[in-house]
Amino acid sequence: MIGKLNHVAIAVPDLEKAAAVYRDVLGAKVSAPVPQPLHGVTVVFVELPNTKVELLLPMGEKSPIAAFLEKNPSGGIHHMCFEVEDLLGTRDSLKAQGARVLGDGEPKIGAHDMPVLFLHPKDFNGCLIELQQI
Ligand code: CO
Repeated sequence: MIGKLNHVAIAVPDLEKAAAVYRDVLGAKVSAPVPQPLHGVTVVFVELPNTKVELLLPMGEKSPIAAFLEKNPSGGIHHMCFEVEDLLGTRDSLKAQGARVLGDGEPKIGAHDMPVLFLHPKDFNGCLIELQQI
């Protein structure tokens, strides 16, 4: 049902520092910071040959990332994003199997301008899962 790993998102308390680690220490291609006010984050995209890492810095106190960083002050993996061909069909099938979809259960437009949904971490071994339509 799920396809490629689209990205792994890491919440970070210091975006410049985190970007420097990926760029200078790990030698990855790193984007400039991209403010995404609609999602309450500033993102640095780390381009890898087979997927992306997204470094997320909270924007404002209401950012969903702010609460995560309160619990994990030095940062941590916030979610993984898998690609799916049929987002609504996948959602309905997951719901039928007891998985909880966050929010009102309707897709929102994600960071890549594609519809996305999030699945409750308690249903997936403690990991928040994002599904993105391809
Ligand atoms: Co994401």
